[in-house]
Amino acid sequence: MLHTIFFLSSLLIISSHASVQDFCVGDLKAPEGPAGYSCKKPSLVTVDDFVFTGLRAAGNTSNIIKAAVSPAFAAQFPGVNGLGISVARLDLAPNGVIPMHTHPGASELLVVTQGSILAGFVSSANDVYLKKLKRGDVMLFPQGLLHFQINSAGVNSIAFVSFGSPSPGLQILDFALFANDLPSKLVEKTTFLDDATVKALKAVLGGTG
Ligand SMILES: *[C@@H]1O[C@H](CO)[C@@H](O)[C@H](O)[C@H]1NC(C)=O
Repeated sequence: MLHTIFFLSSLLIISSHASVQDFCVGDLKAPEGPAGYSCKKPSLVTVDDFVFTGLRAAGNTSNIIKAAVSPAFAAQFPGVNGLGISVARLDLAPNGVIPMHTHPGASELLVVTQGSILAGFVSSANDVYLKKLKRGDVMLFPQGLLHFQINSAGVNSIAFVSFGSPSPGLQILDFALFANDLPSKLVEKTTFLDDATVKALKAVLGGTG
């Protein structure tokens, strides 16, 4: 009997001290590692750490792709740190395009909320999965695969995309090839494109070399 009481009271003590970590709001001033940011002190966390208002407004589409990606990843929205999720807003002006890109760290779910979007991805087997999406439609892009979105409406189109990672990453293929100082000769060698085409794309996208 005494043993049982002792056992139960130890359990109570253990559970009242159990440190289940409900959240780990990222401390952006602390170093970031592969597992994410260090946690902000729980006593300093407020509801505003779990609310992101940066997706209310359209991104600026006055650019070469006529489109904008507004991320709410851990770096912008530290509340998602450690929780395996994040979100972003896509704005595509008429003729806008989010060029061929990949998120190395996560699969993506896209929901069209305005207009219409032609979206597709290419598998590792180089099969193409392409669909014209209407408002309310959802499309899945598996982790790491190259994909794109093109505005297929004559008006602004909007989509929200969610990711299975707080830091899914974003690498745009054309920028990786033509927006840096990788020498043109090597770009030509690795893409089979001619010198004039590579130089022209570097000029447009801001690359050198
Ligand atoms: C949008 O970006 C363009 C090009 O950078 C800039 O000239 C313009 O002022 C920006 N518009 C707004 C509303 O920020």
